[in-house]
Amino acid sequence: MITNRLSKTLTTALNLQMTKEAHASQIYLSYGAWAERQGFSGIANFLFRHSQEERNHMMKMLEYILKRGAEAVVTVIPAPPKNPENINTCFEKVFEHEVDNTKAVYKLVKMSFDEEDWATWNFMQWFVKEQIEEETLAMSLLDKVKIAGSKKENNTALYSLDRDLEKTPDEAKSAQDVTVDNP
Ligand code: FEO
Repeated sequence: MITNRLSKTLTTALNLQMTKEAHASQIYLSYGAWAERQGFSGIANFLFRHSQEERNHMMKMLEYILKRGAEAVVTVIPAPPKNPENINTCFEKVFEHEVDNTKAVYKLVKMSFDEEDWATWNFMQWFVKEQIEEETLAMSLLDKVKIAGSKKENNTALYSLDRDLEKTPDEAKSAQDVTVDNP
């Protein structure tokens, strides 16, 4: 009796996404290590925490594939890209990476829709919402860095940003959760 509830196509696509999330985790990890060496320990801390979040996304994918009775294939993770030139490009790359991940998430949503696999479609909605939050967070960080400027010398704005990011929440508020009383 076949108990696998995922199609071959979706199994492959979900496995690819699982590796993509692991790759994202490696990117944040390597950018964090780079930021720490530049003397931005608050930004590094933020990036390290986000790396863990991406790893959680990877685990979510893995668990889902297994729960649907399919095979989760843990494979090689591509190397992260080279270090950014400065804090500004660091957050530009972070934003670009999140947009790229959103596209991959949307593809999975479409695939599950086309297959009428509503379980996977429903599962993927969590990632759609998560990507809105992640893009919002990346955008707001990019704005803050742009205002502060990326030159480190005597830059108090960058110093404050680094200090703030030490404890900044990893999640941005989603537009869906906003009310008139709680904008
Ligand atoms: Fe798992 Fe930043 O997307």
